[in-house]
Amino acid sequence: MDKVQQVRGTKDIFPAEMAKYNSVIDKAKSVSRLFGFDEASFPLIEKSQAFTRPLGESSDVVSKEMYSFNDRGGDSITLRPEGTAGIIRSILSNGKLNDLPLKLFYSGPMFRYERPQKGRLRQFTQIGIESIGNPDALEDVEVILCGIKILSGLGIKKNCILNINTLGDNVSRNEYKKNLVKYFLKHETQLSELSKNRLSLNPLRILDSKEIEDQEIIKNAPLFSSFLNNSSIDHFEKVLKYLKKLDVEFIHNEKLVRGLDYYSHTTFEFITEDLGAQGTVLGGGRYDGLSKMLGGPHIPAVGFAAGVDRLVMMSKLNNDLPMAISIIPIQKENFDYCYSLMNMLRNNNIRAETHPGGNVSKYLKKINKKNQKIVILVGDKEIENKKVVLKNLSTGDQFEVQNEELIKKINMQSY
Ligand code: HAM
Repeated sequence: MDKVQQVRGTKDIFPAEMAKYNSVIDKAKSVSRLFGFDEASFPLIEKSQAFTRPLGESSDVVSKEMYSFNDRGGDSITLRPEGTAGIIRSILSNGKLNDLPLKLFYSGPMFRYERPQKGRLRQFTQIGIESIGNPDALEDVEVILCGIKILSGLGIKKNCILNINTLGDNVSRNEYKKNLVKYFLKHETQLSELSKNRLSLNPLRILDSKEIEDQEIIKNAPLFSSFLNNSSIDHFEKVLKYLKKLDVEFIHNEKLVRGLDYYSHTTFEFITEDLGAQGTVLGGGRYDGLSKMLGGPHIPAVGFAAGVDRLVMMSKLNNDLPMAISIIPIQKENFDYCYSLMNMLRNNNIRAETHPGGNVSKYLKKINKKNQKIVILVGDKEIENKKVVLKNLSTGDQFEVQNEELIKKINMQSY
């Protein structure tokens, strides 16, 4: 029979790597808590409309990357490609409007049918924060600072550059789009096929086209900054003023439009050269219009998400698995004694395991390959003298320890 294959773009994570994922998520969670974001959890599946409207029918995610299916009741359901739209849906469906502002942290898997490559998966993990209900530009700064602190905590901030831009409010954005289309129409014949398509669907996305034939045309395109109205300028200037005050280094990148329709005002990305083509580690921005796209009232909000798979690849955290003690009966007959000893250690919150016994050197070899370097050897003599032999396989050191001293010695790691 053929072997069942793994789904392309998914990742099996075994304990040593899982420890890295968990420490990245724990770090992000504890930094977010410092900034006032508490953890929440939302469904992996949503009605497809929760994404099609706010992310935009013409966005890459909606037009070609969503995992959607009709469930047995005939509803169109989508595996979440991102967290933000589902969180605003949940605020609306749980009647949480009176509880705003809310500051939430989340982590978990997201699904996008993308072409898999280094740092790009079809099922990937994100951590994210969303500040919902606060219109102040200073909140954009808070969110960016939280992102910086997470990246610093993982030791990778120095390899990332903050790119920041504004997409203005709806009025400025529509005015800009009109002018951008006028400009691109003049050069339509030279544009790539992809950009020609985007011209009617999503002209802003042409600005971050990677196609060679588009580059010269994009270079001379009108700039967003010339179309921003006063309130949009005020918002962005306040963000930049505080970032400068706080000595945050950034690049104002006028071509940064982000791939999702729901953004307005501030957008930002932390970009690295460490991951090859997948340079964006963390991205986000303000999305004041998202709630209305889901049929709700106007709710100002700002947040970001970061790819945990990318953070794990970049960070060099030391992630030793928890130490475990292996208790080895020298003879098979010593097993029962070892089994009680193992339970006694577990009752004292020490991770322990035992083996059937007999072939000691075989067990030692096996254990030496694992991360469990402390072994306890028990034979007839030890049982009689109420002692055990504690052996550290990394150093080769070995001590006799009286049973009553054992817990203390292990807890103090004095062996
Ligand atoms: P996004 O830029 O689409 O934004 O994704 C955020 C991060 O998720 C990316 O910067 C990247 O690190 C990671 N990521 C995205 N796609 C993949 C993939 N296929 N494989 C591995 N990692 C990936 C959002 O998702 C927005 N919800 C962010 C946001 C929150 N905006 C406001 N609030």
